[in-house]
Amino acid sequence: MKIGIIGAGNIGGNLTRRLTTLGHDVSVANSRGPETLTALTAETGATAVTVQEAARGAEVVVVTIPLKNVPDLPAGLFDGAADGFAVLDTGNYYPRERDGRIDAIEDGGLTESRWTELQIGHPVVKAFNGTYAQDILDRPLPAGDPERLALPVAGDDAAAKEKVRLLIDELGFDTVDAGGIDDSWRQQPGTPVYGLREGVDSVKKALDEASPERTEAFRG
Ligand SMILES: NC(=O)c1ccc[n+]([C@@H]2O[C@H](COP(=O)([O-])OP(=O)(O)OC[C@H]3O[C@@H](n4cnc5c(N)ncnc54)[C@H](OP(=O)(O)O)[C@@H]3O)[C@@H](O)[C@H]2O)c1
Repeated sequence: MKIGIIGAGNIGGNLTRRLTTLGHDVSVANSRGPETLTALTAETGATAVTVQEAARGAEVVVVTIPLKNVPDLPAGLFDGAADGFAVLDTGNYYPRERDGRIDAIEDGGLTESRWTELQIGHPVVKAFNGTYAQDILDRPLPAGDPERLALPVAGDDAAAKEKVRLLIDELGFDTVDAGGIDDSWRQQPGTPVYGLREGVDSVKKALDEASPERTEAFRG
């Protein structure tokens, strides 16, 4: 499958590593340009591209950059993507350490991924936001393994969500349907499922136990 990855840091880099290992055709972009990605492309066989080129022909486009930088993404970001492409959003809002205060999230009642959708002009599927980047490399397990970790996946577009869930299964993790993007506060930072390394039943329980109120550490 052709996959575009916007962001080549902890998460984007490790997704590039795993997806190329699985045989996918990965294009990867960062903010500084393809010439700064030679180490990653030499290691993985992925193609370094500009942000504007990342989605071309892609069935899945991963947006994995700091939330505060999402509004900087260019118009026409998804021009040339494959029909029915899915956008996978791994983002989190860290108002204190990184992103600064975003009023529309704090006061406007928007989930972090709904806010991201408004910036990029396309529905997203939220996944991997509570996953340690290193686990993408270290913790994949075959389907049916009792130790296999599960990830919550939220999104409004059923077909896009299914596409992402199948890809995550291929990457070595179970998934739990965490509802739509308006429900995705259940997996945001500070919730019980955030950073949880457990299987399907525990992930479902943690999603059920979440509170919609942002915890103090994640308020701006
Ligand atoms: N780290 C984790 O374990 C983890 C886990 C789950 C979710 N997340 C979330 O996933 C997202 C990515 O986290 P990360 O830890 O992978 O970030 P990171 O290591 O800081 O890497 C960020 C990447 O985004 C790129 N970038 C920044 N602004 C950009 C722009 N305007 N256009 C294109 N690329 C841009 C950076 O490129 P340059 O270096 O060229 O600027 C860099 O490659 C964040 O929202 C984070 O909260 C992280």
